[in-house]
Amino acid sequence: MTTRITWLGHAAFQIDSAGRTVLIDPFLSGNPVATVEAGSLAADAIVLTHGHEDHVGDTVEIAKRTGALVIANFEITEWLRKKGVENLHAQHIGGAHDHGFAHVKLTIAHHGSMLPDGSNGGNPCGVMLKTADGTIYHAGDSGLFGDMRLIGEEGIAVAILPIGDNYTMGPDDSLRALRLIEPRHVIPCHYNTWPLIAQDALCWAQRVRAETRAEPVVLEPGAAWELS
Ligand code: NI
Ligand code: MN
Repeated sequence: MTTRITWLGHAAFQIDSAGRTVLIDPFLSGNPVATVEAGSLAADAIVLTHGHEDHVGDTVEIAKRTGALVIANFEITEWLRKKGVENLHAQHIGGAHDHGFAHVKLTIAHHGSMLPDGSNGGNPCGVMLKTADGTIYHAGDSGLFGDMRLIGEEGIAVAILPIGDNYTMGPDDSLRALRLIEPRHVIPCHYNTWPLIAQDALCWAQRVRAETRAEPVVLEPGAAWELS
């Protein structure tokens, strides 16, 4: 089996696994680096890490059009219900559920989570997707925290980490995170969307190879990589 991971730009990913398409943080409209339009995306499920606009993004439109199941913390699923999204599954930090396409667990993340209209988006999360090909950990917009070691204890095939700095961890702390998580592979995200979070990903990748045991996978927006 193969699990295909496509970077849609910023923190948005499409994961095709076990015949299902899962979107994480589908922010396409207004995303200056997105290469696809929200209206062209198929989805069986959408997972949200937190309530910020650059993560909730096009979730309401995609969910209503496709009927995709939206998985997020309780505060965000209740907000989506008020927006007319019906196919919802609330989880919360530390809780996991087997959704068939993957076993999905929400983890802590150190960040904020206010929804686009100012509503309370609960606490921000990271997400672990346990697939038949290995576990994917998307850290959301987190800063570095020592309990990433506990996440690593579950065995991470690929970690998706923000490296943009300013709003999230930056390159230096992402290397420290890798030494705690010890994933086999790492995909950087949440950089180069705007000038404030510009980073040199190739320079970062050289440091990952030199200073950690992880293999960096640097994608361009729209590009995919296969985990098998
Ligand atoms: Ni955020
Ligand atoms: Mn963000």
